[in-house]
Parts: sequence; C-alpha cells; structure tokens
Amino acid sequence: MKNKIALVTGGTSGIGKEIVKELLDKECIVITCYHDNDDAANETKEEFNNDNLFIIKCDISNEKEVIDMFNIIKDKYGHIDYLVNNAGMFIDDFIKDFNIDNFRKVIDTNLIGKVMCTKYAYPIMSDGGAIVNISSHLGVVPCTESPAYCAAAAGIINFTKATALEYAERKIRANSICPAFTPTPLSLKGWKQEEIDQKLKDTPLCRFATPEDTAKLCLFLLSDDASFITGENIWLNGGRLNN
Ligand SMILES: NC(=O)c1ccc[n+]([C@@H]2O[C@H](COP(=O)([O-])OP(=O)(O)OC[C@H]3O[C@@H](n4cnc5c(N)ncnc54)[C@H](OP(=O)(O)O)[C@@H]3O)[C@@H](O)[C@H]2O)c1
Repeated sequence: MKNKIALVTGGTSGIGKEIVKELLDKECIVITCYHDNDDAANETKEEFNNDNLFIIKCDISNEKEVIDMFNIIKDKYGHIDYLVNNAGMFIDDFIKDFNIDNFRKVIDTNLIGKVMCTKYAYPIMSDGGAIVNISSHLGVVPCTESPAYCAAAAGIINFTKATALEYAERKIRANSICPAFTPTPLSLKGWKQEEIDQKLKDTPLCRFATPEDTAKLCLFLLSDDASFITGENIWLNGGRLNN
C-alpha cells in the first residue's frame, strides 16, 4: 500500500480518524475532509504530524464543495487509488415526529454525500483502485427512532453493489462494511445509556466494536489481498445477528 493515495471522508474523528491513522502507518498519502469542527481537524493534524496527511474542509452533502474538493485533489495529486466513504451524521426521532428537513439532512450526508464522492472520484481514480463504504449495522437490522439513518445505511449497501458492477469495467472494486455500535462522538450522542447497555448484552462476543476493528477490515478490503472481492457487504457485529 506504500505511496498509494487515499481519500477518507470524515477522518478527523472516530472511525475515519483510525482509518487515516492506519493508512498513514502503511505509508499511504492520505487526504481527508471534515464538515465544521475546525478544532478536531487541527488536533488531527497536530496529532499525526505527518507530511503525508492533507486535510480539507468540505461538506460532502454540498455538490459544489465536493466538486471543488476533487479539483483540489486532482491539482495537488493527479489521482487517487482508494476512496473510503466514511463521513456520516446521526439525527434521531420517530417517523411520526421526524422533521422532514432533518430527514433530508441525514440522507443528503449519509447517502447522497457518499454517492457524490463516488461519482466525482471516478475520473481521477486509478484503474484497479478500491472503494470502501462505511454503512452500519442499522443498514441490515433497523431500529426504532433512527429511520433516516437506517434508510441511508441500507441504501449504501446496495449502492455499493451497483458501484461494483459499474466500476468493474476499470477493475475498481467497491465493498461496504456494516459496523455495529462503536463508541465515538456520533454514537455516544445518538444513544441513551440504557440503550448502550442493552447493545452490550445483545452482543455474543461481549464487547463493542472499536474504530480499529473497522479500520483493519477497511485496509484489508482496499488492499490487493482482497483483489477478487467486490460488491460485498461485511457485517462487523460480534455475533449480533438478529437485532
Ligand atoms: N459509531 C458507530 O456506532 C457507527 C456504527 C456504524 C456505522 N458508523 C458509521 O461510521 C461513519 C463514521 O462515524 P463515527 O461514529 O466515526 O462518527 P464521528 O466520530 O462523529 O465522525 C464523523 C466524521 O465525519 C465528518 N462529517 C460529518 N458530516 C460531514 C459532512 N457533511 N461533510 C464532511 N464530513 C462530515 C465529521 O466532521 P465534523 O466533526 O467536522 O462534523 C467527522 O470527521 C459514519 O458513516 C457512521 O454512520 C458508525
């Protein structure tokens, strides 16, 4: 993976930050973007202190900003080898109470944002490149009070398969990962403590997923070790198969 160029969206926190770390450890050149938390972006830059890391502020739900980001990447690096569509957000409510603008915000970020990055990456992706989309456990098994998040995550799984079919003409692979609950700023904001305790009880392997679990699987799927795997969705859940 040395010297491969990767774009990881949402790499200034949680799961994305760990993916950035592991790619830098493999001596990749890593570009990442974030939405509005400048402090987290500055901390990430300082913490990694690595010339191979380039951080861009870009709202992936905004098409113009996505186009601008890919133009910047093209001018600076010429191409990318890997795309990790990780950035996401969480707004919860019951369907009957959901503010429709908020529902759209979740779909625009968690689904359309990943779609736009996949579209605009295509012209600058090297043949034989790889895409990993971070979906969610909730894309396979829904829960109450997160209908927008569940819908976007489910959409990503099949969008990944459609991408795999279309991009195979240039040997670009696309796979998705569905991590179960992983303690990060996103999930800790989204769930009450009693719900978190229940998730642990429901997990046969008796622990939560970690950002490292997802990052290690992501790096495997990007690597040549996974060169015949495309259109696959991998559920990363410690055995929580039915809820
Ligand atoms: N944590 C879990 O339990 C869990 C489980 C399954 C799947 N996932 C998925 O894993 C991914 C990462 O989640 P996480 O828990 O690591 O979240 P996190 O810690 O909140 O980090 C989210 C990252 O995405 C960025 N981001 C959010 N909205 C964005 C936008 N519109 N444009 C660009 N960047 C944006 C954030 O930047 P700012 O900080 O600037 O907003 C941040 O860097 C998400 O797709 C999530 O759905 C998480």
